[in-house]
Amino acid sequence: MATSVKVAVTGAAGAIGYAILPRLASGQVFGPDVKVTLQLLELPGAMGALEGVAMELEDCAFPLLEGIVLSDQAATAFDGVNWALLIGSKPRTKGMERNDLIKENGPIFVGQGKALEAKAASDVRVVVVGNPCNTNALIAMMNAKGIPQNQFSAMTRLDENRAKAQLAKKAGVGVGALTNVAIWGNHSATQFPDTDNAKINGAALTQAITDKEWLQGDFIKVIQQRGAAIISARGSSSAASAANAAIDHVKAYITKTPAGDWFSAAVPSDGSYGIDEGLIFSFPLTSDGNCGYSIVQGLPLSDFAKDKIQKTLQELRDEKAVVADLLV
Ligand code: NAD
Ligand code: LMR
Repeated sequence: MATSVKVAVTGAAGAIGYAILPRLASGQVFGPDVKVTLQLLELPGAMGALEGVAMELEDCAFPLLEGIVLSDQAATAFDGVNWALLIGSKPRTKGMERNDLIKENGPIFVGQGKALEAKAASDVRVVVVGNPCNTNALIAMMNAKGIPQNQFSAMTRLDENRAKAQLAKKAGVGVGALTNVAIWGNHSATQFPDTDNAKINGAALTQAITDKEWLQGDFIKVIQQRGAAIISARGSSSAASAANAAIDHVKAYITKTPAGDWFSAAVPSDGSYGIDEGLIFSFPLTSDGNCGYSIVQGLPLSDFAKDKIQKTLQELRDEKAVVADLLV
């Protein structure tokens, strides 16, 4: 068990950065015995705001916070890091889809991929949050060929958490009763939140939620559109729940998955379920507790599920084609 961890966070002066940093520094992610160094990357114009964030972190007097590095240079921020949370990028605004950001945000992940390959620790785990996160993760991975592909992922945990919350509300149970909810595909309006194998208190979800029309209709739409609904209500995209999901994502990698359950994250496909190899696709996963993960195999997929998975797969293929020039 490591006694210290270096964590890079990009876009650290942004909304998600502000919500995630105190939680990383507090010990609630890596545990009460692990010292944390935060290595924070921002654009030159946001370095002043980042200084303010660092002052606040200092004022929290977190006993486990060993150091804070502030930089506008990826090579400095990624030096020796064990985790790289790639958040820094533009969020969408009302009326946009996440992949409308691809031309603007995609190039960020070329330079950051190269810098990670050159500077990060060999065990670095790269988690892409900045949208469109699946394809941005693909760009980073393809620009960091010296880092094993299974050390890259993109975040669909927010979708899983949203799905569990809606299902719990519908069934009138606590969120903790939900297991085996899977998010397939892209973190986008084509994602497939899959309840076919989900359980409530260990029993088939369909025993508690019999409204199949809702499960295959409004439920899926609500999850697919939840990010847009938040932007419409708040005027800016989710931040506290996104930071929380990123923490859940990291914790899922460093904690052994409870027997029989799974979590969702977008990882490079190994061809499982017929998904093109190398595409960053959300699957149900289990972790060995030490960042080794496996894609859950052999889940039965209905024709309805297969059709949804095909649609989100096609969207990821299309996104990949749009950024072909960034995939060296
Ligand atoms: P924000 O605008 O509040 O903050 C983004 C920060 O990134 C800014 O401080 C900006 O200066 C910085 N930045 C931009 N380009 C950078 C670069 N090249 N290097 C370093 N820093 C850079 O945005 P936010 O609300 O924090 O959201 C950040 C991203 O996360 C957006 O793309 C958003 O769509 C995405 N997001 C993803 C999920 C998900 O579930 N995957 C959830 C919420 C938000
Ligand atoms: C979300 O799901 O809340 C984020 O991806 C932000 C967005 O653009 O929807």
